Amino acid sequence: MLKEVTATRYVTPLREGGSLPGIVEADDLGTYVMKFTGAGQGRKTLVAEVICGQLGRRLGLRVPELVAMQLDPVIGLGEPDQEVQELLKASGGLNLGMDFLPGSLGFDPLAYEVGAAEAGRIVWFDALINNVDRSWRNPNMLVWHGDAWLIDHGATMIWHHNWPGAEASAAKAYDASDHVLAPFRPDIASAAADLAPLVTEALLTEVAADVPDEWLVDEPGFDSTDAVRRAYVAALLPRAATIHERLTLDAPTKNRPSQAPGWLTEHVTPWPHPTKKNSGGEGR
Ligand SMILES: Nc1ncnc2c1ncn2[C@@H]1O[C@H](COP(=O)(O)OP(=O)(O)O)[C@@H](O)[C@H]1O
Ligand SMILES: [Mg+2]
Repeated sequence: MLKEVTATRYVTPLREGGSLPGIVEADDLGTYVMKFTGAGQGRKTLVAEVICGQLGRRLGLRVPELVAMQLDPVIGLGEPDQEVQELLKASGGLNLGMDFLPGSLGFDPLAYEVGAAEAGRIVWFDALINNVDRSWRNPNMLVWHGDAWLIDHGATMIWHHNWPGAEASAAKAYDASDHVLAPFRPDIASAAADLAPLVTEALLTEVAADVPDEWLVDEPGFDSTDAVRRAYVAALLPRAATIHERLTLDAPTKNRPSQAPGWLTEHVTPWPHPTKKNSGGEGR
């Protein structure tokens, strides 16, 4: 189980992201980035955050600590912003908290160098969890005290949106050409050799056990929350052993999308370019 804390004060919304997470203080005197069950993306985003975040931490990657946060919507009563009010009202009960990294900066691939070994581990991990949300447009990485940290694992494991097709979906390839770390010569072979053996059924079962029951109940096609947990394990376990064989990583210069998003076109000539992170509705 995740450590459980209770939210005591809503501080401010984080508007860079798509899901309107907020900075929240808790009764353990910690400050957290809170992701709300009532957000439009739904509870599966939070399940993905827990399974992938905890898995990343267990594999030795830098992911801020995760907690389960109890929210009494009453703490939002004085909130002037209607959108925030409604989000808090819709999110009573357990939400997800991630340790807030004060003073962190958004990762900029032109300003921060990542070694081939670390890049390999992160790209391999993203291939395993099928993360489509660590691109140069939207890195979902922070630099804090000189180290790169991974955040935002909500848009992963696409197979959990269609369980009957999960086995086939989890067997699919991963195209890392757009990955923010693609230009850093990720050493995938070493990462796979080091990390794949660690992704055992026992580890995945432990990680799945960290997901609160509340976010797994009444999943269509399953008769218990533990059956849902087993489905996550069953999708990730075989993928860990073989995904490095199905991971494509084209030379970065070929990868620049032919049609850059509108807000980029006026700025970008060479690729990669420091991203205007999450502006213009690209962020997730
Ligand atoms: N643990 C954290 N510490 C500091 N800032 C964070 C943390 N988590 C998220 N943020 C900030 O909030 C933004 C949105 O968070 P993110 O998890 O990416 O949510 P979304 O799902 O909305 O994209 C990030 O781009 C980052 O600037
Ligand atoms: Mg994000």
